[in-house]
Amino acid sequence: MCGIVGYIGHREAYPIILKGLKRLEYRGYDSAGIALFDGKDLKLSKTKGKVADLQERLENEISTSGNLGIGHTRWATHGVPNDVNSHPHYSNSGDLVIIHNGIIENYESLKKELIKRGYTFTSDTDTEVLVNLIEDVMKSDNLKLGKAVQIALNQVVGAYAISVFDKNKPNEIVVARLGSPLAIGVGEDEFFIASDASPFIEYTNNAIYLEDEEMAIVRLGKKVKIRKIKDDSLVAPYIQELQLNLEQIEKGGYEHFMLKEIYEQPNAIKDTYRGRLLASQGIIKMSGIDDHLEKFTNADRIIVVACGTSWHAGLVSEYIFEDLARIPVEVEYASEFRYRNPIITENDVVIAISQSGETADTLAAIKLAKSKGAFVFGVCNVVGSSIARETHAGAYTHAGPEIGVASTKAFTTQITVLTLIALKLAKIKGTISNSDYHYQLQELELIPEKVVEALKADDHIKKIADTYKSVSNFLYLGRGYNFPVALEGALKLKEISYIHAEGYPAAEMKHGPIALIDENMPIVVIATKKGHYEKVVSNIQEIKSRKGKIIGIVTEGDVQVKELADHVIEIPETLESLSPLLTTIPLQLLSYYIAVLLDKNVDQPRNLAKSVTVE
Ligand code: M6R
Repeated sequence: MCGIVGYIGHREAYPIILKGLKRLEYRGYDSAGIALFDGKDLKLSKTKGKVADLQERLENEISTSGNLGIGHTRWATHGVPNDVNSHPHYSNSGDLVIIHNGIIENYESLKKELIKRGYTFTSDTDTEVLVNLIEDVMKSDNLKLGKAVQIALNQVVGAYAISVFDKNKPNEIVVARLGSPLAIGVGEDEFFIASDASPFIEYTNNAIYLEDEEMAIVRLGKKVKIRKIKDDSLVAPYIQELQLNLEQIEKGGYEHFMLKEIYEQPNAIKDTYRGRLLASQGIIKMSGIDDHLEKFTNADRIIVVACGTSWHAGLVSEYIFEDLARIPVEVEYASEFRYRNPIITENDVVIAISQSGETADTLAAIKLAKSKGAFVFGVCNVVGSSIARETHAGAYTHAGPEIGVASTKAFTTQITVLTLIALKLAKIKGTISNSDYHYQLQELELIPEKVVEALKADDHIKKIADTYKSVSNFLYLGRGYNFPVALEGALKLKEISYIHAEGYPAAEMKHGPIALIDENMPIVVIATKKGHYEKVVSNIQEIKSRKGKIIGIVTEGDVQVKELADHVIEIPETLESLSPLLTTIPLQLLSYYIAVLLDKNVDQPRNLAKSVTVE
């Protein structure tokens, strides 16, 4: 939820940290702060607001020199977003300074103890408690920072990624993680610390990803030393060579990351099936499935766990798996699943879907499923993420970095992976005819160019957005495969434009939502040719007779809906099972343009963060 950056080495730390925070701002953006050490003074500046606000304030407040520093961009958990609660936090002596991503659940009891011991607190944060706990341990037993961090963390309940240094030992930064990501960039005589690799990718491709319950002492002139926090055992650092490049994490001429990511979908989908889908040979190669084939073919059922947009992709997969592979599927919100004592057996396959691979609820659901003996398969985008590592096997989506908070290419690439899996299993189980199987493969291969076609409605959608930008409510209706797309369209609009929107199965409208319809209510109806078309047309007629404004998402060449609807947006024809990959495109663009026209912060909508690493 928060972004953390650190630097120690021969360069000026400030520009690296500032740029790094801007790249990590997708993780949280209600306040920001930086601490720098210049060999003499420890300087700190922090503020409520964005990294740009911090930059303005910091450069007037402190000198930016120093080769050691840490910085933070916050998504508040404990304590409202204000200057005081912003990170970094000092310890009482002013010697230690810390940044933290996560929640210390037992901070109140720890704080009481520290108050008894004479400590005072200026903020409402759990983080200030942690830095003073570390200081207390250090002073009481005359310990070095690393040891004190370890002992303190053993008293802590909760989740964290921390980065802390002592101004009296300016050649090292101590970092640790449990439940929140932390990477160490390893350069020549310099180290970088960050929540993900984007802040340091232009300096080094070599990264160490800490595992849960690990801490590291990052000391100049030495190799990174990693220990298990609980049992003190040493862990050999694994330095990974990253494939990420700078271009992937920049806007590339687009006004927003969200628009760039919408337009990246043709390539993202292609990258996702590249090397896996060999349509002309009728082959789907997926090592994560091939290596565990019996788990899937013998599964009593598939349980999908996910949150948000990933949950919507999971809901699409329910249709695909049941329809094509005849495997019963249950789709669960990870946050509900983890707390409701679900019945899970060794014959269940659990598929966890997550773009970031860091969502706390999804991670907890995976751990629960594993503890009950289920086989857990991950569908993640971020390589090396916690969920990718925690699952028994998996398939990456290869969408490339998704930085806009509103998920777009994650959704379509997740559906692509899930479709590949379902088709592969359908073929093996014999639940699909040979001709249908080959047809599906060919059609899937054509999807990227059809997405390109769908994107051509951009200007037309912008005009529709202008017509409806001032309304207070929207309804989204879809049936079958496109019911989850209706939910996803409504979620997109809510999160970036703050307009209230609901998604419904089209036929459910008459059981309640129809009461909302009047001349002020725009209703987006997904009415593609293959997919209960006639039934949806009847729903459109019901809306029309109540004067609702209809925006139809239709198949190219449609006649019937065109006559009834106020606006139509055409998409190319495809199979019903693949249609979500196309119908979602105009909905993404519609929400994008409404938010832009309302002057909202599209990439960083209020109250949200890209990866939700707290429950
Ligand atoms: O990283 P994940 O896919 O696990 O994230 C799940 C949700 O937090 C995420 O999809 C969220 O709903 C997005 N903001 C939706 O656009």
